[in-house]
Amino acid sequence: MRGGPAGAHGVAVLIRREGETDAEAIRAVTAAAFARPDAPGHAPPEVRLVDELRASGAWLPALSLVATGPGGDVTGHVLCTRGHVGDVPVLALGPLAVRPDRQRAGVGSALMHAVLGAGDALGEPLVALLGDPGYYGRFGFRLGREYQITPPVAGWQPHFQVRPLTAYRPSVRGTFRYAEPFDRV
Ligand SMILES: CC(C)(COP(=O)(O)OP(=O)(O)OC[C@H]1O[C@@H](n2cnc3c(N)ncnc32)[C@H](O)[C@@H]1OP(=O)(O)O)[C@@H](O)C(=O)NCCC(=O)NCCS
Repeated sequence: MRGGPAGAHGVAVLIRREGETDAEAIRAVTAAAFARPDAPGHAPPEVRLVDELRASGAWLPALSLVATGPGGDVTGHVLCTRGHVGDVPVLALGPLAVRPDRQRAGVGSALMHAVLGAGDALGEPLVALLGDPGYYGRFGFRLGREYQITPPVAGWQPHFQVRPLTAYRPSVRGTFRYAEPFDRV
C-alpha cells in the first residue's frame, strides 16, 4: 500500500502537535472552514481568536493539534485552552476547523479523538465546548446541565456541552468560563 495508513475514505490522515511553522497554515484552514458567504474576503473572527489564544496564558501547546494529508499539508486544526468551572481548571475545546475540500472524510473525528485522548492523558477532568450536539454527541459530549455545569450566558444552553474525562469528579460543577480572548472575539 502506498501513502501510509488510510482514513475513512482511503486518504491518510495523520495527527500531530502544532509546530513552530504551522501558524499560517492554521490561519488558512480556519479562514476557509469558517468563511461566510455574506462576507467574502473578510477573515472570520475565529482566525483572530486562535491567534489571540496562542498569545495568551490560556494556551496549552500540547493540545493544539493539526491534521495533515499525504503531502504533509495541514488539512485541519483543533485546540483546547484553559477554562474553568468555578475555580477548577478544565479544558475549553475550539475552534475545530477542517479545510472544506477535506470535510466528511474523518479528519474532524481524528482530531477530536486525538485531543480528547491527549487531554485525558494529561489528567484533565473535563472538556467543555459550544457546538452542535448532533456532531459532538458521537464523541461523548452531553449537554452541560446533565453535569450541573452551566454556560456563562444562559442562552448558550442548547449548544453548551461537556465531556467528562477519567479524572472527572461530580464535585466539578457550577458555571463554566472561557479564557479571556473568547470574550473579545
Ligand atoms: C464540523 C467539522 C469540523 C467536521 O469536520 P469533518 O472532517 O467534516 O468531520 P468528520 O468527517 O469526522 O465527520 C463528518 C460527519 O459529521 C457530520 N457533521 C458535520 N457537521 C455537523 C453538524 N454541525 N451537525 C451534525 N453533524 C455534522 C457530517 O454530516 C458527517 O456525517 P456523516 O459522516 O454521517 O456524513 C467541519 O465540517 C468544519 O470545519 N466545519 C466548519 C467549522 C465548524 O463549524 N467547526 C465546528 C464548530 S467550532
